[in-house]
Amino acid sequence: MTKKKKTPEELRSYRWLGVNDLRAFGHRSRLRQMGYDLEDWDKRPVIGIINTWSDINQCHAHLRERAEEVKRGILQAGGFPLELPAMSLSEPFVKPSTMLYRNFLAMETEELLRSHPIDGAVLMGGCDKTTPGLLMGAISMGIPAIFVPAGPMLRGHWAGKSLGSGSDVWKYWDEKRAGKITEAEWAEMENGIARSYGTCMTMGTAATMMGIAEALGMTLPGASSLPAADSQHKRMCTQAGRRIVDMVWEDFTPSDILTPAAFENAIMVHMAMGGSTNAIVHVIAMARRAGVALSLERFDQIGREIPVLANVRPSGEFLMEDFFYAGGLPALMNVLAGKLRGHAITVNGRTVAENVSGAKIYNADVIRSLDNVVYDEGATAVLTGNLAPRGCVIKPSAAAPHLREHRGRAVVFRDYNHMAAEVERPDLEVTADDVLVLQNAGPKGGPGMPEWGMLPIPRKLVEQGVRDMLRISDGRMSGTSYGACILHVAPESFVGGPLALVQTGDEIEVSVAKRMIHLHVSDEELARRKAAWAPLPPRYERGYGRMFQEHIGQADDGCDFDFLESGAEVPEPEIH
Ligand code: FES
Repeated sequence: MTKKKKTPEELRSYRWLGVNDLRAFGHRSRLRQMGYDLEDWDKRPVIGIINTWSDINQCHAHLRERAEEVKRGILQAGGFPLELPAMSLSEPFVKPSTMLYRNFLAMETEELLRSHPIDGAVLMGGCDKTTPGLLMGAISMGIPAIFVPAGPMLRGHWAGKSLGSGSDVWKYWDEKRAGKITEAEWAEMENGIARSYGTCMTMGTAATMMGIAEALGMTLPGASSLPAADSQHKRMCTQAGRRIVDMVWEDFTPSDILTPAAFENAIMVHMAMGGSTNAIVHVIAMARRAGVALSLERFDQIGREIPVLANVRPSGEFLMEDFFYAGGLPALMNVLAGKLRGHAITVNGRTVAENVSGAKIYNADVIRSLDNVVYDEGATAVLTGNLAPRGCVIKPSAAAPHLREHRGRAVVFRDYNHMAAEVERPDLEVTADDVLVLQNAGPKGGPGMPEWGMLPIPRKLVEQGVRDMLRISDGRMSGTSYGACILHVAPESFVGGPLALVQTGDEIEVSVAKRMIHLHVSDEELARRKAAWAPLPPRYERGYGRMFQEHIGQADDGCDFDFLESGAEVPEPEIH
């Protein structure tokens, strides 16, 4: 930290509040209108709390109260807190997919910070897309920022068993389809699976992305593992409020933290957590915002070196509450200390190595050592081949081992509705060795690359006891999902990628060991099919959806809008 400490006159907010002109008179008089006085803002950093609380975001239900804890810390440190609400992106409620709106939240975050007299930001989120959305916006804005993770909810409970968000829903839904549990038992689970505020408590996208935010250095150490309902979570919020004020004086910005080393750490931690496949798209998008080149290949390279250490569903047995009691992310990162880029700096001004040094494991079954891993390679493998020239991903640790090397007959569904109807048909021609293929689930085709990639096992096979099959799509899957699901096929079928050319009866071969996916159809036949292929009409004629489809990138590019990736500086607003 060699930057010169800022003076009050160098604060960004000084242009709004400190000068003596007509506009500043207006700004100050309007603050007074809200009951503030000179003492509140004079020579104090203005901290914007970007809060994704809403009445329909169950995972962020506590963030309204937590914002008060953040404000307390900001006031203690001599800052002026202002809370600014932003789109809350509740994963279950927002349709057609929250992924359609991740970039919307990123734009909103960036422009909220730019257009107001804000010197530093506390970003409050955690439900899936809110973490990357908030961080992407803050990276592009470039003022000091700290991320406050919402934290996972408490474990679910039913009939003496612990229930995990998503993972156990999919599991017991198949048991119900197979007639193995009753309607009454299913209804009991509905009461027991979500017991408190906070995010999904499996290693889904939320836990993965909050952990990645910590590994990047954008949270206080240990913050991402704190259960939302634990009093430590409140204290962490207050600490974050105190710290952001110092970060403003230090002019300590995301560009100081988000170096290539930080992203290497994030990918290593992602692999060791057994993290969600969704993280790949988000980490690439964040890296591009930060001007760091990152390719799918790098994920695969790191994935071959870093084993899964977190024994948390869906790759393992336990839940995030257990992970916290076992030592949380600092303990897991300490296992990786010899591999991490320990010199990377974090929001508290200390290095990763300093933060995780001494962090202990209290349950060696939940957080494993390098000689007793959950899965010997990392969370994600990247496959390429004629079916996915720009790559696709699979989570091998969550797939049935025999399907990691497989060749089978394709059963193709042209879109979600086609698939949903076909899998329920008792006379569907399908066997457990077939490969289910879903088209038009990608960024433009879904639209918004929905989490349809864990295609349901056809009912007749579920009834025979089949619980995993090889499945391929250009969509994503929930981080809480599991199975031999190949996802993010790029380029997507909606824009004419090879996935659009697959027909029922074709042979598809997959080898995770060789990182290969191959459609056994000749190049000549594929060229003939491509010549006969006709694009579907655009999904939207107007509005945000139209802008989305015109500017969204493919999965291997992180699905950002082309005009939002790093590049020319956006000027500070003129004040007239
Ligand atoms: Fe919010 Fe899963 S629904 S994190």
